[in-house]
Amino acid sequence: MMAADGKKVWMDGRLVDFADAKVHVLNHTLHYGVGVFEGIRAYATADGPAVFRLPEHVRRLFASAKVYHLPIPWSEEEVARAIVETVAANGHIPAYIRPLVYRGEPALGVKNSAGKVSLAIASIPAKKYLGEGSEKGVRAKISPFRKPPSDAMPSYAKACGNYLTSYLAGLDAQQDGYDEAILLDTNGYVAEGTGENLFLVRGGVVYTPGLESDILLGITRDSVVTIATDLGYSVVPKLVSVNELLTADEGFFSGTYAELAPLRTVGRHAIGTAVPGPVTRAVMEVFSKAVRGEDPRYAAWLTRVPGLRAAAATPVRAARRSG
Ligand SMILES: Cc1ncc(COP(=O)(O)O)c(C=O)c1O
Repeated sequence: MMAADGKKVWMDGRLVDFADAKVHVLNHTLHYGVGVFEGIRAYATADGPAVFRLPEHVRRLFASAKVYHLPIPWSEEEVARAIVETVAANGHIPAYIRPLVYRGEPALGVKNSAGKVSLAIASIPAKKYLGEGSEKGVRAKISPFRKPPSDAMPSYAKACGNYLTSYLAGLDAQQDGYDEAILLDTNGYVAEGTGENLFLVRGGVVYTPGLESDILLGITRDSVVTIATDLGYSVVPKLVSVNELLTADEGFFSGTYAELAPLRTVGRHAIGTAVPGPVTRAVMEVFSKAVRGEDPRYAAWLTRVPGLRAAAATPVRAARRSG
């Protein structure tokens, strides 16, 4: 669970105090779920704080907004600059950044698409989402709640309303004592977690469900595909049956908030030997260096946050040295 706290929230071009970041209770997004958002992380690097894959997140925000007829009244460059400004104004590193596009004015009526489109950007302290599971492995269950098909709810748009299914699946898994849920698509193929994509490894080949299973095309997923390919593995997007998942040698989740997290068990089934396998560990190690600017091959994935003093952050190297 993340504590939503920060100092400033960027709202339609102004940095307002955290406590004053408010909208009207009759706003369209609150009632009908018509809003789109992003989840982005900023990390400490030796050269100062940096946002991971910022242009890709901003591009997806605009693509999601287009699906839901929410014209964002700023350019992608302006939104990217506003995100960097918000991270700097809050000063927490690592940060979890949440831009939200919404209609905030009082307007009832589901077909109402005329209201003002607003953008808010929050930046709060980032935590480990899956707790211990991030290192030791996640205990997941196959959810009774399935991904809605994209001709009902486009999975490629990161829309507020899509998270009703994630909410139900996540709560069900939690109440049953699991760390996370794995949702199937309507045809019974493995889709993704509540806020993560899924990878499995069989015979040294890496497989991941594709868009045909109504997943969100994750930016971390894309980073994993690049890293695993650079490590020499074949990465194959395909329909994944439950049987293939349960008999995989290894499995892991990928997502901005979860980062990379090995899969330990699914229901009563151990995945491989129930400890993070060699492919998972290799990809996790490179990913962890990439986000911290310690692998020059992936330097272009980082956008520096100027104006945020190193003292405000926790430099990874200094933290390691001090034990
Ligand atoms: C449903 C869902 N799938 C996958 C992901 C992973 O996407 P990303 O790696 O871009 O954070 C997320 C997180 O945004 C998500 O909410």
